[in-house]
Amino acid sequence: MQKILVAHDGSKSSDKALKKAVELAVNFHASLTVLSVVPELYLTEISESDKQKIFNSLSKETTDAMEKIRKSLSGKSIEVKTLVRQGDPAEKILETAQKMKADVLVMGSHGRHGTKKFLMGSVSSKVVDNSKCPVFVVK
Ligand SMILES: Nc1ncnc2c1ncn2[C@@H]1O[C@H](COP(=O)(O)OP(=O)(O)O)[C@@H](O)[C@H]1O
Ligand SMILES: [Mg+2]
Repeated sequence: MQKILVAHDGSKSSDKALKKAVELAVNFHASLTVLSVVPELYLTEISESDKQKIFNSLSKETTDAMEKIRKSLSGKSIEVKTLVRQGDPAEKILETAQKMKADVLVMGSHGRHGTKKFLMGSVSSKVVDNSKCPVFVVK
């Protein structure tokens, strides 16, 4: 196992996934890529310029969060890369895993927006259904 991709959305569940991914990276001497996707906004009630503002602030927040993660892992003996993408989270996660030829994709069972009523969130369900590489879902 050489390349690990972990999907992070700022949720507690994705923090757990990150922790597990770091453990795997250390044990397998693998490189770690942390990916966060800024979702497109599907709000129809607001103006384009307001949408742009919200999107910019979300992008900044996400980039800052990734930077924080990168710094927090700088003491570990692993190669860490952070990525911020825009679009549909599940699609971007799947696309990134394929492009980088990830050996395993690590993600949380739940995220920021859903309810615990379901076994898995919408993004993790879609990724598990469509992924070509093994997916490690952290509970
Ligand atoms: N925008 C995103 N960028 C990166 N990873 C994400 C994103 N959204 C969700 N994930 C990953 O998917 C996991 C499950 O989240 P999700 O399926 O969105 O659950 P929920 O429906 O509860 O929000 C998260 O813990 C995270 O690992
Ligand atoms: Mg979500």
